Amino acid sequence: MLDKIEEAGSSKSTFYELLGGEEAGQQVVRQLVNTFYDVMDTDPKAAGIRALHQADLTDAREKLSMFLTGWMGGPQLYIERYGHPMLRRRHMPFAIGESERDQWMYCMIRAMHTLQLDEEIMKKLAAQLYGVADFMRNK
Ligand code: HEM
Repeated sequence: MLDKIEEAGSSKSTFYELLGGEEAGQQVVRQLVNTFYDVMDTDPKAAGIRALHQADLTDAREKLSMFLTGWMGGPQLYIERYGHPMLRRRHMPFAIGESERDQWMYCMIRAMHTLQLDEEIMKKLAAQLYGVADFMRNK
C-alpha cells in the first residue's frame, strides 16, 4: 500500500486506482457519496448545508458520484452526461462561505471514517477536496 501511496504522490496512480479501480473503485465512490449524504441528512452539524439541498437527495447522490468518479481519475461519467461541470458556476445559486465549506468537509470526512478508508488516502483525498470546496465559496 505504501508504494501505491508514494505513486499517488507522484501522480502515477489516481485516487480511483487506489480505491480499487474499475468496478471496485466505482463502488467505493458510490458508498462514499451515499454515506456523505446520509451524514448531511441526519447530522445536526450539517443542517445549514442540508437546507440548501432539495428534500429528495437522489439526484445529488447520483450527480456527485458521477462527478467524483471522473475527478478521481475514473470514467468521466458526469461530463459524458452533463458536459463541462462548471462547478463554481453551478454553485452560485447557493450562498457558500467558510461555514458551508466546513460543513461539507465535515460530512465528507465523517463518511471517509465510516468507510474506514486507508488513513493516508483519506488525508490526501481530504486535502484535495478541501481545495475544491474552498473554491466554491461565493460569499
Ligand atoms: C463547499 C460546500 C458545498 C455546498 C454547500 C454544496 C451544495 C450543493 C447544492 C445545494 C447542490 C444542488 C443539489 C440539489 O440539486 O439539491 C450541489 C450540487 C453539486 N455539487 Fe455541491 N456543494 C459544495 C461543495 C461541492 C464540492 C466540493 C463538490 C465536488 C467535489 C461538489 C459537487 C457538486 C456536484 C457535482 C453537484 C451537481 C451539479 C449539477 O449538475 O447540478 N459540491 N452542491
